Amino acid sequence: MRRKIVAGNWKMNGSKDLAKTLVGSVRSELASLDNGVEVVIIPPAIYVQDVAAHADGELGLGVQNVSEWHSGAYTGEISAEMAKDQGCQFALVGHSERRQLFGETDQAVADKVALLLDNGLDAIVCVGETLEQRENGRAEEVVATQVRQGLGKVSGEQWSQIVVAYEPVWAIGTGKTATAEDAQAMHASIRDVLADMGAPAEKVTMLYGGSVKADNAAALFAQPDIDGGLIGGASLIANDFISICRAVP
Ligand code: G3P
Repeated sequence: MRRKIVAGNWKMNGSKDLAKTLVGSVRSELASLDNGVEVVIIPPAIYVQDVAAHADGELGLGVQNVSEWHSGAYTGEISAEMAKDQGCQFALVGHSERRQLFGETDQAVADKVALLLDNGLDAIVCVGETLEQRENGRAEEVVATQVRQGLGKVSGEQWSQIVVAYEPVWAIGTGKTATAEDAQAMHASIRDVLADMGAPAEKVTMLYGGSVKADNAAALFAQPDIDGGLIGGASLIANDFISICRAVP
């Protein structure tokens, strides 16, 4: 049985007040969530302690990025060790916005994953194709390369700390959600790549991200290779985020 996870990526949004109100609302609904889903909040790093204080250990906690370096003269960066020190269990790696806006490479993803695993954190590794790549029939090829290169240093028991998030770039923030069938097809393709890499592919949790909403989550999460979601905009609205968590079978 794979882990079922719904993670809310706040991106560069939120406030101390949202940390209090949204986390409080989600916590109040947790007891009625009987589907075994792990609910994770991934705020801007500056709000991690605010979320942690209001979550009181009842929600998963993550950061949206860590440095590919261990420590040192890298102004503005935060390390995997610091994320662990602040009580995080998760970190996003390779989000398409970091790849596109901040030049994050597959090599940097691999280096970050290694540091996260060494520090006992779970890495949520984001992969996904652009609209042009999909329209040119290269989606599976592009995603397979991201998986092979980003996860190339993972071995043995470390695979239990890996979560893969498929986020088609053209679905992020656009309202153009992938169909459940297309998302399932890509998840199955990723699972085949993981198996070819020697990973315990059937045990690796895979999340879908890209315009997941309360009204489309159930169809996505019903797919055999979709184990939950990585949620952007809808994770900032308590009722929507809770509804998405409930949609996990
Ligand atoms: O990391 C999740 C994010 O990329 C998805 O954003 O707003 O399309 O749910 P959104």
